[in-house]
Amino acid sequence: MVDPLVVASGISRRFADGARDKLLVLDDISCRIDAGDRIALVGASGSGKTTLLHLLGGLDSPSTGTIMWPALGPREALRPGKLAFVFQTPSLFPALTVLQNVGLPLVLMESSDDVDAKAASVLQRLELSELAQKLPEELSGGQAQRVAMARALVTGPRLVLADEPTGQLDSATAQHFIDLTVDFIRNARAALIIATHDEAVAERMSLRWEINRGRLSHPAEPQRRRA
Ligand SMILES: Nc1ncnc2c1ncn2[C@@H]1O[C@H](COP(=O)(O)OP(=O)(O)OP(=O)(O)O)[C@@H](O)[C@H]1O
Ligand SMILES: [Mg+2]
Repeated sequence: MVDPLVVASGISRRFADGARDKLLVLDDISCRIDAGDRIALVGASGSGKTTLLHLLGGLDSPSTGTIMWPALGPREALRPGKLAFVFQTPSLFPALTVLQNVGLPLVLMESSDDVDAKAASVLQRLELSELAQKLPEELSGGQAQRVAMARALVTGPRLVLADEPTGQLDSATAQHFIDLTVDFIRNARAALIIATHDEAVAERMSLRWEINRGRLSHPAEPQRRRA
């Protein structure tokens, strides 16, 4: 039996909400992610998709419940390398070129060999080579999102959590880009979870998780399908 990448057990997340009671955003959620999973995380704006991704990525802690990464090790050892995050908000470093932004996780891992070549290879696989020498301020919103995905993939992570990575792309470009992303991670049997409002993107994933009123609905284990 192979260890799961992430197991969340009975997690909730509350936020302080001014004078009112604390806002309960996620309520008693249990879920797991296995190698090779392709998951679409859907739900209305404000339903808690970003909050859940931050928890599953070890960027935030649950108010109650536990999260573990059995196949990846302790939370401190997740990044950079084993787990990669694509943020919903712009996250490229303004002073670095696209190529340097994409290579940055490799620099942080002190893997000094061929950083530029590896970054260029990911850009090429995602059909972004022509952007390599540009600065972030010269990119469109949709281009910047795609570069952020390239930066997430450069270390060959085993789990990629992407928060609306195609939110600024037209639907046809978004679907093509998701196909390129899935192709890139297929050999490594990496798992991908994408928060999205785009049904066509969601349909390209093999599992669908939906957040509604703080609860997560997802298929029971026997119904889990593989990509
Ligand atoms: N740090 C925080 N402090 C207080 N409230 C927060 C915080 N982060 C999120 N929230 C609240 O939690 C709820 C869920 O927010 P979240 O960003 O997870 O939603 P979302 O599903 O990602 O929405 P969208 O589709 O618009 O990105 C919202 O009501 C939001 O205001
Ligand atoms: Mg969000």
